[in-house]
Amino acid sequence: MSAVLPVVRTVADLRAQVRAWRAAGLRVGFVPTMGALHEGHLSLVRLARSKADRVVASIFVNPTQFAPHEDFEAYPRDEAGDMAQLASAGCDLVFAPAVAEMYPPGAATTVTVTGVTDAMDGIARPSHFPGVATVVTKLLNQCGPDVAVFGEKDFQQLQVIRRLTADLDIPVEIVGAPTARAADGLALSSRNAYLSADERKVAVRLNEVLRDVLDRLRRGEPVEATEQHAIADLQAAGFTRIDYVETRTPDTLARLGPGPVTGPLRILAAAHIGRTRLIDNMGD
Ligand code: PAF
Repeated sequence: MSAVLPVVRTVADLRAQVRAWRAAGLRVGFVPTMGALHEGHLSLVRLARSKADRVVASIFVNPTQFAPHEDFEAYPRDEAGDMAQLASAGCDLVFAPAVAEMYPPGAATTVTVTGVTDAMDGIARPSHFPGVATVVTKLLNQCGPDVAVFGEKDFQQLQVIRRLTADLDIPVEIVGAPTARAADGLALSSRNAYLSADERKVAVRLNEVLRDVLDRLRRGEPVEATEQHAIADLQAAGFTRIDYVETRTPDTLARLGPGPVTGPLRILAAAHIGRTRLIDNMGD
């Protein structure tokens, strides 16, 4: 019988465990999640495991990164299922705080990152990155890991986290993990659970269109026309709203184009199918 994965629900208990590991000379890895775990999250845990002696995962559906009209209440939750998966991936401890533990009455501080948040999801979801930056700052301060792993699927989020840890002198190595994909290329996401069978067939076009954009740009086609072409392709495929398809530098997320580009780039996209919003990105 496999051992039960320990869960702590308070910052004090989390700190006590991490302090004990530190005292024993162990290196600590951390994987923050909002639960509803899939293979993508487990790949983050395995990567953390390869870089640390002990791995902590957090499960916290952070209310401050959802706008009032978004899916906070409906966001999938399955703590028992998540725990079983985390145990099998080599996680040592789960931090699963209640909202009141993370945001006690009187909490009044928000972390705001500028620059990398000035476009794309920073515009489409204006309250999102302040919520993410605040909770990630808190989680890193609470856990105090040596290394923390975040998925490249949320590419803009990853750059926000790199920026804030550098700016706030948080002593942690931030590692980005490649996007885990289904066999047909769809980026794994907890929100894929919202898709009907017909919508799932539309969803796969997002990564195919991004691949096409990358191929076109590498053939020297101009950025702006290629992005417009991609938006038309997504609309034709059945996406009901396209928030953006944008070509950016990978690190600072500065706009590239409108003409042809050479050198490092990342294409980022967000699009809706009915009530489900999907994001994906691609680089080479
Ligand atoms: O990527 C996520 O799941 C969340 O944005 C994170 C980093 C766990 C913060 O709530």
